[in-house]
Amino acid sequence: MTLSGTAGNTSCCIQSAKMERYYRLHSHIYDYTRWSFLFGRKNIIGMAADFVTPRRILEVGCGTGANLSILAKTFPDASITGVDISDSMLNKSRRRLKQYGARIELLNYNYNRPVRRGCYDLVLFSYTLTMVNPGWQEALNAATADLAPGGCLAAVDFHRGGSSWFSSWMSVNHVRMEGELLPWMTQIFDPLFQSECKAYGGLWQYFYFIGSKRC
Ligand SMILES: C[S@@+](CC[C@H](N)C(=O)[O-])C[C@H]1O[C@@H](n2cnc3c(N)ncnc32)[C@H](O)[C@@H]1O
Repeated sequence: MTLSGTAGNTSCCIQSAKMERYYRLHSHIYDYTRWSFLFGRKNIIGMAADFVTPRRILEVGCGTGANLSILAKTFPDASITGVDISDSMLNKSRRRLKQYGARIELLNYNYNRPVRRGCYDLVLFSYTLTMVNPGWQEALNAATADLAPGGCLAAVDFHRGGSSWFSSWMSVNHVRMEGELLPWMTQIFDPLFQSECKAYGGLWQYFYFIGSKRC
């Protein structure tokens, strides 16, 4: 299913084309390579389970569907939506998640506006927000709108690069590492848990954040 948020909006089309161009190749090697640097993806789901037992879950930028599969096992009674802007990534997800049938819904969607306002008990961003360039503030606003009262946002992502050459290299791969996400999240959600961790002795930092929607 395609719910397009891009019609008539040039910067949305650019973002969509940029991601699809990048992931047309990378979707094939994603699951074989990303374990070595996208740290904490499984942990954030376990951490979220300490704070919320969701009936409806949204993963933004669900990629190849690895997190959706863990979410489905961790929360067997939940129905789950995964949205992504790249068809190549969504195709990988579709293949991986066939067994779950209608319990996992997959949408081609540019997350610059809510999917279903007030509907989700848990919204997960796993290494997505640093790739939403521009528009990560809009994505966080959309998540606030998508969350039901008392719902939780869970995020794991790059925080800061340990050196300017590393941050520049990551920007070639469309990743922004400027440390702005965590302070922003702590302002718009009520923090329940947050932590900053070093990868490879400080080559970069990544963060965990769990926050609840403000009443
Ligand atoms: C680094 S991957 C993370 C995939 C998965 N969440 C994981 O943890 O492995 C980032 C994903 O975000 C998606 N993405 C980037 N910008 C997006 C946007 N504006 N709306 C929806 N998805 C987006 C990309 O297509 C990509 O699949």
